[in-house]
Order: sequence, then C-alpha cells, then structure tokens
Amino acid sequence: MAHDIAVIGGDGIGPEVIAEALKVVEAAGVEIDTTDYELGGSRYLRDGEILSDETLDQLRGHDVILLGAVGTPEVAPGVIERGLLLKMRFDLDLYVNQRPFVGTAPGHSEPHDFVVIRENTEGPYVGEGGVLRKGTPNEVATQGSVNTRLGVERCIRYAFELAATRPRQHVTLVHKTNVLTFAGDLWQRTFDEVAAEFPAIDTAYNHVDAACIYFVQDPHRYDVIVTDNLFGDILTDLGGAVSGGIGLASSANLNPARSGPSMFEPVHGSAPDIVGTGQANPTAAILSAALMLDFLGETAAAERIRAACDDPVDGSTAAVGDAIAARVGD
Ligand code: IPM
Ligand code: MN
Repeated sequence: MAHDIAVIGGDGIGPEVIAEALKVVEAAGVEIDTTDYELGGSRYLRDGEILSDETLDQLRGHDVILLGAVGTPEVAPGVIERGLLLKMRFDLDLYVNQRPFVGTAPGHSEPHDFVVIRENTEGPYVGEGGVLRKGTPNEVATQGSVNTRLGVERCIRYAFELAATRPRQHVTLVHKTNVLTFAGDLWQRTFDEVAAEFPAIDTAYNHVDAACIYFVQDPHRYDVIVTDNLFGDILTDLGGAVSGGIGLASSANLNPARSGPSMFEPVHGSAPDIVGTGQANPTAAILSAALMLDFLGETAAAERIRAACDDPVDGSTAAVGDAIAARVGD
C-alpha cells in the first residue's frame, strides 16, 4: 500500500528542497500518495489562516507529514513558528525531536556519529508567562519552563530504547543541573531511574555549556544525547555546524506512540535570501525524508538514500536532487 504523506512545502526554500526530497523517495521505489497543504507565512498573509482546527484534523488523517520550512520576514517572529510549527508539535504530541549527526568535525580526522533526542513538547517552549506594564521602565517579562514527569520520562525512555539498538550503547544527559536545580533534579532523577532499567547501557552527564565545548573538541564521546527542548534547539544547530553544515541536518518530530502522524523536516529555516536562486542544499530535506521512511518501515530504501548522500554533490538544488536520485535508482 502506498504511504499517505501530507506535504507542507511552506515558505522560502521549503518547497524547493521538498520537491527534491520527493524526487529521491520516488527514485528509491517507495510508493507514496501525497497531499499538498499550502501553509506558512505566504498563506497567512493571503487569507489569515495559520493552522485551523479543521486543517489540523485533516493532517491527522495522514500517515506522516513532510515539511520544508516555515516563516517569512513579512510576518513578525513567532507568529508562524508558534501558530504552525509548535502547534503541530504540541497538538500532534510529537514529543521526541530526533536529530542525527554524522560527519567529521573541523580539525578532526575521524567521523563522529551521534544523535540528539530533544524533548519537543515542554520546557520554555510551552509559552508560559506574560508581560506587565509593557513599554514602561517597570516592564516585567516572565517566561516559564514546564517540565512534567511524564514528558521527561517518555523522552528519556525513547533515548534509552534507541541507544539499545546502536553499537555504542551509551546515553548522555545534557542539562544545567547546577543552576536550573528544580527542573534539573527532575531530569536527573528520572534519567537515573530509567537508566536502572537498561543495565547494559552506559551513561554520562554533561552540563550544556560543557557539551558545547565537547561538540567541537571531542564529539566522538557521544552516542545518544537526551536533553530538554531549548538546550536541544541550541545544541542541534551546533551539531549541524560540526557535521558538515546545517544544509545536511535532518530531523524527525516523532509521536512514538503512533497516536497520530509524525512530522519530518530539515533543521534549516526558510532562507528567504536565497529563494529561487537554486543555491539551497536539498540534502537536509532528503535525509529528513529518509528518517520518514525509517519510521514507515521502509528501512532498506532509507539506507540507500543515506548512502547516496554520503558523497557531497555540487550544483544547483535540482542538480543535487537529480544526482542523489540517480544514485538511489541504480
Ligand atoms: C528548530 C527551529 C524551531 C525551534 C523554531 C523555528 C521555532 O529553530 O526546529 O530547531 O526553535 O524549535
Ligand atoms: Mn532550531
């Protein structure tokens, strides 16, 4: 049966890179049925829709969602991000954000291979807080971070289950337990309790500031990293930077319980400055499609796509897509 994919090209280079990703999936011989959803900044500017309940319900009916990028300079920061991207992550309960990093960091000779498991539905992203006396000298802004036992535990458990399938069998918790003592304590205790259920898996803990140094100077120490939403956001941009660039960084927003569709997207944004120039690298979108195929059980096709992305290709967006599609089809 063909896999039923909702496609949100989105804004900027999003549609350009998604076209290449779909080209490669088809070249891999995977049967797909796609439905396009025009969502993002341009749609919002046209008729005011960001993501209605009705559209969200339609999205729920698909097997998976493939997304390019959303956000446009004409719309204030946060409007589309919160109303579309975060709304999907929260309302579809995409509680794991999985971001793999394979590459050779600058100054190193051996490749690293680690994956960041970022909690995707809590932390400072929930939008708890507010503003008082805006624009006055006494202005107050608060922005809370929500950490629930359920949210933290299911994310950490996913990280251990993933580590159990990998050769290194290692999980590192990254947090800031020396300062964020309330949330840090919940994360550390939950981590220790889940770790006790996986005696074969080795564990470590790094403060997030130290992890930034290790990402650059000693990335080989990592196998699976588990961390909160905001630390994971920041660390995964750094992960991209030390693994060949953000043009290669893929991600999966997963609902591992499969109570609804999961969503797959490159980590890069809409890059409005290079729209239509053919400069966008579609590899991150193609590798995100490979993560999608993993999740759909099309593991052999996903492996072939990853192998085809191993050797970098130079050229325009379409030329890179064509070259990878040709390798996959061989
Ligand atoms: C990401 C992005 C998003 C995030 C933005 C666009 C809301 O940076 O997926 O990493 O902060 O999660
Ligand atoms: Mn980010």
